[in-house]
Amino acid sequence: MTPEGRLAASIDMLHEVAEAPRRPADAIAADFFRARRYIGGSDRRAVSDLAWGVLRQRLRLEWWLRELGARPTPRLLALAHIMLIERMRATEAARRFDGGRFGPGPLDVGEAGVAEALDGRPLIGKAMPEGVRLNLPDWALPGLAARFGDALPAEAAAMEKPAPLDLRVNRLRGERAAAIAALRAEGFAPEPTQFSPDGLRLPHRAAITATAAYREGLVEVQDEGSQLIAALVGARPGMRVADYCAGAAGKTLAMAASMANQGRITACDVSAPRLEGAVKRLRRAGVHNAETHLLAPGDRWAKRRAGTFDRVLVDAPCTGSGTWRRNPDARFRTNAQDLA
Ligand SMILES: C[S@@+](CC[C@H](N)C(=O)[O-])C[C@H]1O[C@@H](n2cnc3c(N)ncnc32)[C@H](O)[C@@H]1O
Repeated sequence: MTPEGRLAASIDMLHEVAEAPRRPADAIAADFFRARRYIGGSDRRAVSDLAWGVLRQRLRLEWWLRELGARPTPRLLALAHIMLIERMRATEAARRFDGGRFGPGPLDVGEAGVAEALDGRPLIGKAMPEGVRLNLPDWALPGLAARFGDALPAEAAAMEKPAPLDLRVNRLRGERAAAIAALRAEGFAPEPTQFSPDGLRLPHRAAITATAAYREGLVEVQDEGSQLIAALVGARPGMRVADYCAGAAGKTLAMAASMANQGRITACDVSAPRLEGAVKRLRRAGVHNAETHLLAPGDRWAKRRAGTFDRVLVDAPCTGSGTWRRNPDARFRTNAQDLA
């Protein structure tokens, strides 16, 4: 694809994200590329990098556009991205909107005016309110300020870097060295994680689900922090364990491995689709000691089993702010009501 074609595809993707504000952008991106299989690997990366860049900096880009009296459309957000983040000058940026067969249509008079006005501006404007400057939504600002105090700007800045991709090696299928070798053979460069003994880290997002190592259950996608939580439960072979908010079983899988498939884990959740996802993952990982239980309203399942578990993990629902680095759009899908 030409740079113009990539820009046009990013703008199309941003349109789809804008049309489904409650849907995670990564799910939208997956559907977007599934419907456009002709877009190859490196083009995909470039298209999603730009769209993700916009989502990551959305508050600041929108602030600038509103400051200039413009409505933040996907086209203008992409324009602001290439100018304020990629540091293109107005004339060069305008040339990207080339009106060619694959590129975006030419800038209209209003858009060209915005390009002129953005020329040479810094990403972070002096007059920006604190939330915009820190790139944090207003509903989250008071809580985060109370939690981090003077360290908040550094914490917020750290959240802006694209996240690495962490994997957990499934010891039911093989050792970490075997997983490293398998992934290297498929063109990846994993490094052992610093704290989790089963973790591997790839420097950025990668199509890991297409690898044999993933399909055969040798590795799972799981942040190092989540791996550590599962490890801290201390589930050992032969124990009886309840994973009370198991979701799609991320931590159940890790605990099943530390139990060497011996004993029993029950993965509970109120969401049937999540538990269905759990069943598939458990099968892929070769876990034999786990069952799922769909909790109904007023379910007495837990009460009837009081005192029968060696370990209970309650991975309660939260705002998901820990995933903002990976899913920059998530901060706009949560609000003050959700927090309450
Ligand atoms: C943080 S997520 C779990 C993530 C999962 N443990 C993992 O590691 O992949 C929280 C889960 O709690 C579930 N949940 C919400 N309300 C619940 C309730 N009242 N009882 C049990 N689970 C609940 C949600 O459906 C969601 O899957």
